[in-house]
Amino acid sequence: MTRRLAAVACVALACGASGGSRTTEVFELETTALAGTPVDVIELDDVVVVLEGQVARIMRGGNVKAIARAPQPWLAGAVIPALDGEGRWLIGLDRGGTLWQIALDGELRSINDQLGLDRSAARSIGAFDRTFAAGFDRGIAASGDLVHMTMFESPVPTALAVARDRIAVLNKEGVELWDLKARTRIRFDVRAAVDVAFLEGKAPRLVVMSADHVFLEKSGGLRKLSGPSHPRSLAVSSQLWVLADDGLYTLEDDDLVHADRARLDPKTSIFRSNTGDVWVAGAGKLRRIGRRPSDALGAWRTDIEPIVKRACVPCHRPGGDADFDLMSFPRWTSHHEEIQRRVIVEHSMPPNGSALSDDDRARIGRWLEVMSVRTQRKPGGSMVHSERSHGRLP
Ligand code: HEC
Repeated sequence: MTRRLAAVACVALACGASGGSRTTEVFELETTALAGTPVDVIELDDVVVVLEGQVARIMRGGNVKAIARAPQPWLAGAVIPALDGEGRWLIGLDRGGTLWQIALDGELRSINDQLGLDRSAARSIGAFDRTFAAGFDRGIAASGDLVHMTMFESPVPTALAVARDRIAVLNKEGVELWDLKARTRIRFDVRAAVDVAFLEGKAPRLVVMSADHVFLEKSGGLRKLSGPSHPRSLAVSSQLWVLADDGLYTLEDDDLVHADRARLDPKTSIFRSNTGDVWVAGAGKLRRIGRRPSDALGAWRTDIEPIVKRACVPCHRPGGDADFDLMSFPRWTSHHEEIQRRVIVEHSMPPNGSALSDDDRARIGRWLEVMSVRTQRKPGGSMVHSERSHGRLP
């Protein structure tokens, strides 16, 4: 199923604008009308759910398919592997502290008990695959498998981010990086930190936004990225997007470059997209903006997914032999470098005995080429904030 595509257009002056700071081209890939100001946008395959006030609008192909109404305004949403086995669930947290499974027909079902969570006062949630965290007034409930939930004492987190087996916590004491497997916590001293996130990839990298800068984890420290002087918000998946007073920025060669010189509505907000693109909400519109002119998602659905189902999924499904889920588009975007290496360079995947025609391999190769934005890192760069203190998780 394809989503409605707006005519692919260069966003405002990002094309050919002159000026001091570097710019990069970005493209508008999809546009839908928006009623108000969303608090979150979440995606599951070709379904997009916009959380706004008490309403969750469940959209497919740019059309509203169902509406779910929570008893309290929404705070945030996430996607988790289904607690009853098959597939994945869209979930939302409301102000009352209730976590709801949002079914595609608009039905809401509370899942606090199933997750082993206290209903009292969850304030924030984050999830990546089976790693899950919820922030409460008295601490953080975290799980690496969605089955065993542990409550860790911690000051109220003002921001929370989750990657596989890692949790980033921002609280009044600073920024902490928790490793659930190693059971360690590392503290970073960042002045006036306001948000945390993870840049997805083979090794997820911590991103911290302060009132003045954006920092990216590198070699165990946080490196200050050159870029906007007053970042306002972050949207991070396999790509890093920053909204600043003067527009949208994205990561290129470990620097933030201007992606859009157009004046964005002052009420604009941005949200991460599974696809590596960014959702920009403002002026009555929700737009998906990306680095690639062609819609990598659309191409994946038509060209790649059928091959994946045939040639990879038998082993690469959650819980499959390879212990490495490659069923979905987001998994392909965040792991495109490994897939490139194993399938195109080394020809070591799929393993001997499973067939992949030369045509199919070439098709995957072409998609990966379009997919890969420049990921080369410039050598050097100033490392700051290596003030770290180590501790153990209880
Ligand atoms: C017969 C089972 C099987 C099939 C089919 C298969 N794989 Fe794999 N794959 C594995 C196993 C087992 C591993 C882990 C061991 C290894 O790295 O070789 C793996 C590892 C990988 C890795 C490396 C993961 C990492 O941790 O870095 C990539 C990438 C990969 N496969 C891609 C693919 C793609 C793409 C396809 C389909 C075109 C595919 N595989 C088909 C069994 C399979």
